Amino acid sequence: SPRVLSGIQPTAGSFHLGNYLGAVRQWVALQESHDAFYMVVDLHAITVPQDPKELRANTRLAAAQLLAAGLDPERCTLFVQSHVPEHAQLAWVMNCLTGFGEASRMTQFKDKSARQGADRASVGLFTYPILQVADILLYQANEVPVGEDQRQHVELTRDLATRFNGRYGETFTVPKPYILKETAKIYDLQEPSVKMSKSASTPKGLINLLDEPKATAKKVRSAVTDTDTVIRYDPENKPGVSNLLTIYSTLTGTGVAELEATYEGKGYGALKTDLAEVMVEFVTPFRERTQQYLDDPETLDSILAKGAEKARAVAAETLARAYDRVGFLPAK
Ligand code: TYM
Repeated sequence: SPRVLSGIQPTAGSFHLGNYLGAVRQWVALQESHDAFYMVVDLHAITVPQDPKELRANTRLAAAQLLAAGLDPERCTLFVQSHVPEHAQLAWVMNCLTGFGEASRMTQFKDKSARQGADRASVGLFTYPILQVADILLYQANEVPVGEDQRQHVELTRDLATRFNGRYGETFTVPKPYILKETAKIYDLQEPSVKMSKSASTPKGLINLLDEPKATAKKVRSAVTDTDTVIRYDPENKPGVSNLLTIYSTLTGTGVAELEATYEGKGYGALKTDLAEVMVEFVTPFRERTQQYLDDPETLDSILAKGAEKARAVAAETLARAYDRVGFLPAK
């Protein structure tokens, strides 16, 4: 069956609603139909300064949340990026294949380095997308389930895979982004023109899945809408309401048109009150399940160890082939 690979950073602690709806939810669905590899990308995390103790705790926390969201270690390979050294090894080869100007055009680097101050940004932050290229190519992934903000990195992956194949002979699968239109970009509840994110969102506009459900409900009820009262999906003119409809529709499996009909003539208050309830029903068991995995770190670590072993088998084979193609002398 076709293969998918994706990753999530452990840095933020709690996942936010954008991570879940934009990516993790698709990961859960795809493990049924695909040979699926999912990882917690701790190598990517250290592109900005991390406290070692927090990084370790957040790596476990990220894995616990992925399991709580529905990843099943029997159906997918779940692992930690640094457990598979081939990622850093292939990244070096990919670094040497990437143009400096090409890497300079990555918009996420431009945003992140601007936020940090260009002098403080690390070289690792600059080459971050190239490590991501290696992540994807090592598994010969056909598709990469991500949110819209990762599209450019998947495009870079396609370019580099094609370049490598052209120069050294057919080696890597050229992957496609798997981005669902509806949930590709979830917006800040207070500033619906800005994507929901740990770094850019206002605290009131960011839904952390592990927050107190009551606090989350309150954030939903005080979401920004507009001065009109009509509940209609219209991202351009009604970004706040449209974002709420997207979230509501995805969490409940109810079509947006059906929601529009249900709420016709009712005010925004009714929509927000109901969505707050939907959200509480979603986050409450999610938090409990996450806590259960955290309470049993031995089981969690053994899931990750098995995942790393399965991942390494695939990664090592690809790396060996790539090294051979490049012309490295085999170590005998
Ligand atoms: P990260 O950790 O920033 O985010 C994890 C996933 O969440 C998606 N996402 C969103 N989707 C919709 N709306 C939002 N507001 C929103 N915010 C975040 C992201 O698009 C992402 O899919 N570079 C990656 C991690 C990575 C990776 C990989 C992904 C490393 N190697 C290989 C795929 C394949 C990142 O920082 O994601």
